[in-house]
Amino acid sequence: MSHKDQYAVFGSPIKHSKSPRIHQFFAQQTQQDLEYRAVLVPAEQFELAVNDFFAKGGRGLNCTVPLKELAWVYADKKTERAELSKAVNTLALQKDGSVLGDNTDGLGLVADLKKNNALQLTAKKILILGAGGAARGIIGPIQDELPEAITIANRTLDKALNLATEFVHKGPVVACGYEDLIGLSFDLIINATSASLSDDLPPLPAGLLRDNACCYDLAYANKPTAFVRWARAQGALKSLDGLGMLVEQAAEAFYLWRGVRPESAGLIRLLDAERAS
Ligand code: ATR
Repeated sequence: MSHKDQYAVFGSPIKHSKSPRIHQFFAQQTQQDLEYRAVLVPAEQFELAVNDFFAKGGRGLNCTVPLKELAWVYADKKTERAELSKAVNTLALQKDGSVLGDNTDGLGLVADLKKNNALQLTAKKILILGAGGAARGIIGPIQDELPEAITIANRTLDKALNLATEFVHKGPVVACGYEDLIGLSFDLIINATSASLSDDLPPLPAGLLRDNACCYDLAYANKPTAFVRWARAQGALKSLDGLGMLVEQAAEAFYLWRGVRPESAGLIRLLDAERAS
């Protein structure tokens, strides 16, 4: 292994991961001497692969699909936001040899909304579509911004109700089905369903957007997602996808590992320009 500090992203599939490029960009920018690789790790090999990585001097890992829940179980200690989200996307070796688990996805979303898009969440009415792992990962950090209320809408109502029950101690959050959204309106709608991955859309009624409302798809693609296209058609002030969140969650992980905060806006612009060309 090289003398440089070792970092990696584990996942399956992993070939198209942008994480090595993002972290190498951050390392160069902040003059940190490190190496960051993408490694194909199926779920059944996760524990062995992580043990091996840290035993050989690895310093930190990102974990992506389908490993975030396994990483949550693996971590010796967890941040409060990781604890609540039941998923870990960042593992960091601590000085005492223990492994800390964090989830920087929600922080990444909030940073992209506030810092890169000048969107404040405080006192806003926010609708989250979906009640799976992606939704769970963002609710806590959104609640930390003190929105007026969060509504979680999901096809399977029980999952939304369970999620609302888990997070209601941190701030107002209610659950409903898509048909219950008729007549309601929001300042921000976040798509946390996996529908975009199959160019699909949850069954959304018209009229959900207040004046100057914005929409954000946690998924990203080279072309506008079905949800981004829907948001544009509904007249959203901004219709964003998750590219900025991807870079910002990486910036938070980088900060956790290195104690240095990289500048991310330039990289987001670069990656955005590349997909447009
Ligand atoms: P992830 O980790 O990406 O959140 P997940 O835990 O499998 O994946 O959750 C996927 C979410 O997307 C769920 O909320 C799912 O709704 P159900 O719980 O009712 O299954 C939602 N979802 C997926 N495809 C969808 C579609 N075509 N329309 C609406 N919701 C969809």
